[in-house]
Amino acid sequence: MAVYQHDVVVVGAGLAGMRATLAAIKGGADVAMVTKVHPVRSHSNAAQGGINAALTSRGDDWEEHAYETVKGSDYLGDQDAIEVMCQEAGPAIIEMEHMGVIFNRDEEGRLGTRRFGGQQRARTFHVADITGQALLHVLYEQILKAKARVYEEWFVTSLVTDNDGAVRGVVAIEMMTGQLHLIKAKAVILATGGTGRLYEPSTNGLIVTADGQALAYAVGAPLEDMEMVQYHPTTLKGNGILMTEAARGEGAYLINKDGDRFMKKYAPNMMELASRDVVSRAEQTEINEGRGADGCVFLDLRHLGRELIETKLSYINEVALDFSNVNLAEKPCPIRPGNHYEMGGIKTDVNGRTSVKGLYAAGECACVSVHGGNRLGANSLLDTIVFGRRSGEAAVEDAKQIGEINITEAALSRDRDHIKQLLDRKPTSDTPAKIRLEMGRAMNDGVAVFRDEAGMQAALKTVRSLRERYTTLAVHDKGQVFNTNLIFALELGFMLETAETICLGAIARKESRGAHYRTDFPKRDDENFLKHTVVTKGPKGPVITYAPVTVTKWKPQVRSY
Ligand code: FUM
Repeated sequence: MAVYQHDVVVVGAGLAGMRATLAAIKGGADVAMVTKVHPVRSHSNAAQGGINAALTSRGDDWEEHAYETVKGSDYLGDQDAIEVMCQEAGPAIIEMEHMGVIFNRDEEGRLGTRRFGGQQRARTFHVADITGQALLHVLYEQILKAKARVYEEWFVTSLVTDNDGAVRGVVAIEMMTGQLHLIKAKAVILATGGTGRLYEPSTNGLIVTADGQALAYAVGAPLEDMEMVQYHPTTLKGNGILMTEAARGEGAYLINKDGDRFMKKYAPNMMELASRDVVSRAEQTEINEGRGADGCVFLDLRHLGRELIETKLSYINEVALDFSNVNLAEKPCPIRPGNHYEMGGIKTDVNGRTSVKGLYAAGECACVSVHGGNRLGANSLLDTIVFGRRSGEAAVEDAKQIGEINITEAALSRDRDHIKQLLDRKPTSDTPAKIRLEMGRAMNDGVAVFRDEAGMQAALKTVRSLRERYTTLAVHDKGQVFNTNLIFALELGFMLETAETICLGAIARKESRGAHYRTDFPKRDDENFLKHTVVTKGPKGPVITYAPVTVTKWKPQVRSY
């Protein structure tokens, strides 16, 4: 065991984590980034279609972007935070370009755009269909240039609090040796990503396991709007791999088994580019009513032509060929709605501050809240770089006021005991993988595109019984070096705890809004539910309260596309 110390510790090395790290270094702090995978293997790498910004030089207007984000959120997003994000989007993109992101260009040589869902205008900047990867690699270059300290392949098991309840460090396993260490910090920023793998299947990487949400929840930070889980309309049959919305942005159709462009029935104005919740429900309705094929509808790109597909959508072209044996220029590709994004998360203000002193969050693990009930495509990358930077700046500012760090090694001993138990138990036929799969299926059955009381209660019951099984779970691999079986078990603990908050929030919200569509309460109910769900860990378990939504200038209206 060793003890390390830094001013600011950032947990997670995706776009939000790296952007926060750079901002904190610029602010003059001693900063370290702790990440369970090599930074360029972070899940931001998988973001495909682009990043939104309204550039005034194009005649676009941040207020229009903000309004469409508010409408997309089904009025659950906090409008003050949405204004901040949309106002800062232009400079944030230009900054990324100056750092070295080679965005696609249009015929005139300007940064090129495409249209994304829920928006009237093309304001999505992109690098073909590998935008997340391009941004991630450029930020990593900046991290190397800044000589940031990176604890690579270290897995954080706990946040450490002082006597006043302020977060002043983390406990982490160095995966190469299996040793547990204490890293003290004046401020800790969580940037660990979403909850994707609480569901099976998901577009998310296997590493997306709600670590930050569970770490924050354990020290008393509230989770907000966790029931708002986005299903992306185009995920590949079977394995759930993302087929970017950019395909529809470039003009692809959605068709059912009869070749009918069914979106004309559900969103006659925006068609395939309606917001994601609307398109996912339309597809699921087609499938449920027998107009799908083998649980899917189809994404049809044939009319776009081979050249466009091979230049602007080359990544999904490869994916469709490798995983579905479909050449997109020749055949429609079977797709279905699939788990993609968590709109809720650790409740923060616009500077990433949580209600727990010393603790900050940014990116998908946070809920600022700019996405509300439904996120617009290409607003997530924007969220990561805008609020990543802001949280880094706020953490440095606050850290400057902190003197000595007074924490004990109690958290370290507690985590060591927990790990010892997992390793000491005799193996049974139960495994982390089995429990994880059962949880994922239960969530995908009960808390998905369409929900009702009975389905959500069934998911909750399963999650609770799996939590019971978790208390007797054994890790089969007893080794110290790169014990991925152990990491999988620890992640599972985080996932089960977070899954319960999703189920509870969803059951308590007795209305339909954004991605949360209840067949037993099919109407939006502004009178009773224009409010954020807040789940806090109490001594006897989760406690639900509510918080107001900030409305600045856009009063809730009927939402149609
Ligand atoms: O479809 C996509 O490319 C996904 C983008 C996003 O979720 O923002």
